[in-house]
Amino acid sequence: MSAGRPRRVVVEARAKLNLGLAVGPRRSDGFHELATVFQSISLCDTLVAERRPRGFTLRVRHEDAAVRGRRPGAGRGHVPAGAGNLVLVAARRFVRLAGLTGGARFTLIKRIPARAGLGGGSADAAAALAAMTALYGVRLAPGERSALEAGLGSDVPFAALGGTALGLGRGERLHPLAPPGARRALVAVPSWRVSTARAFAEIDRSKYGLTAWSTKLRFAQRLAHKRLTASLAMRLGNRFETVLGDKRPDFDSLCARLRDAGVGEPRMTGSGSAVFGLLAPRASASRVIDRFVGNEALYVVRFTRSGVRLRRLP
Ligand code: C5P
Repeated sequence: MSAGRPRRVVVEARAKLNLGLAVGPRRSDGFHELATVFQSISLCDTLVAERRPRGFTLRVRHEDAAVRGRRPGAGRGHVPAGAGNLVLVAARRFVRLAGLTGGARFTLIKRIPARAGLGGGSADAAAALAAMTALYGVRLAPGERSALEAGLGSDVPFAALGGTALGLGRGERLHPLAPPGARRALVAVPSWRVSTARAFAEIDRSKYGLTAWSTKLRFAQRLAHKRLTASLAMRLGNRFETVLGDKRPDFDSLCARLRDAGVGEPRMTGSGSAVFGLLAPRASASRVIDRFVGNEALYVVRFTRSGVRLRRLP
């Protein structure tokens, strides 16, 4: 076996936060224009991949990474273990595009809560592409690779790029940004979940002027030319916070309890339901966690400079 083609790799697939997220008009392809600041965080799934002559298998194992509010099984039902899992979808599309006959055996250790706005499925898809690239020593042409990523989901191109980036278009047009310094955040995940497609449909129904979108878009574009701080990016707001419907009181209550516990101004990530707040540089995370009142699962995360990290095993 050549040194360039390992038989087994382990990939860390990192979750993301949307420090800010503005939503524009629906386009003719059904997607919405976005302006968002993505940030990779240390909460991650782990994907182990082993080269096989043909065919794909996937085993999913759930691990609880919450520092408080552990609920065994939470989110489990939202992660498909079969052909619908993005790991398998990504790997199968990769071999088809690359013209390969080989396969892989995957084990996915799932820690990122699903359907919470943390980009877990997208991170897994990006990890599968990184694993297949390493196992087969095959690189797709850049255009082919970007189209494959975007076809798997709007957040997959960012999951593959990682770090800090401004996302435009449907989220796939990425402009890397300077990292906003070493930051930690407390992420709270309620037991209720949000359907992203339904949240976008709510935005379509709600009244929101195009002037507001243009202002937000200009603000986001200017971030690329400034010394970025997390608080500055968070001033973009999150449009999904305004279309929560009957979940609004739960969201408001969670934000109030996070503020009382001592985190910075809370913000929803993606279309929710996870909410995060920054921890002050010298704040004791355990003191904040002790002060928090509620059943939500809590995660302490730090900002990272990459989205996937691959290790080759002998
Ligand atoms: O691309 P992704 O699979 O993440 O999108 C999930 C759903 O969210 C899409 O089917 C679409 O309804 C909606 N969406 C959108 N505009 C975007 C991203 C997603 O309308 N920019």
